[in-house]
Amino acid sequence: MTNDHQSVLLAVGGGIAAYKSAILCSQLAQCGYRVRVAMTASANQFIGADTLAALSGRPVVSRLFDSSFPLGAHIEVAAEADLMVVVPTTANLMAKFATGVADDLVSTLYLQASCPVLLAPAMSAAMWEKPSVQRNHQQLQQDGCHFVGPESGWLSCRLEGEGRMSEPAAIQEAIESLLNG
Ligand SMILES: Cc1cc2nc3c(=O)[nH]c(=O)nc-3n(C[C@H](O)[C@H](O)[C@H](O)COP(=O)(O)O)c2cc1C
Repeated sequence: MTNDHQSVLLAVGGGIAAYKSAILCSQLAQCGYRVRVAMTASANQFIGADTLAALSGRPVVSRLFDSSFPLGAHIEVAAEADLMVVVPTTANLMAKFATGVADDLVSTLYLQASCPVLLAPAMSAAMWEKPSVQRNHQQLQQDGCHFVGPESGWLSCRLEGEGRMSEPAAIQEAIESLLNG
């Protein structure tokens, strides 16, 4: 437990790979990181907030307007983060981050965060190859976001191709390299 002074904001997007966020959350907690999970509304369709609350040991945040955060959840949650990681990063979140849209908690947290941001995209190959998604990828790299994946392999749409999210161990390695240099 040597990392308990470091806080990871684990934002979960609404893609099928959201189930892997539970594995990452558990591994980070076991390594001593203080983990705070934020979920989009769509992410709730793929994984239960109670799972991530239990694994992180803290309540999950998902609402922009939440009376337990008088300053605003985006202000208070972003302030404590040493790193924000988005697992999975959907095409929708990439578009919002690339254009400054802040219409829910996760996109507003991205704008508010002053810490490094690590994105783990996951989507079908057709989505990943779309010119708009590639433009957003380039824009986010220019904006200073760090990326892990996507990789080529089996996709849940039952095709092989690029768009598969990196495995939790690879994402954790990227987190540790960003936090510990
Ligand atoms: C079964 C299913 C699987 C999906 N998988 C993905 C995915 O892997 N990647 C993605 O970008 N969008 C995926 N979507 C679409 C997103 O859920 C949708 O764009 C949603 O608006 C994303 O919301 P969020 O970015 O706020 O989480 C999927 C939708 C469904 C119904």
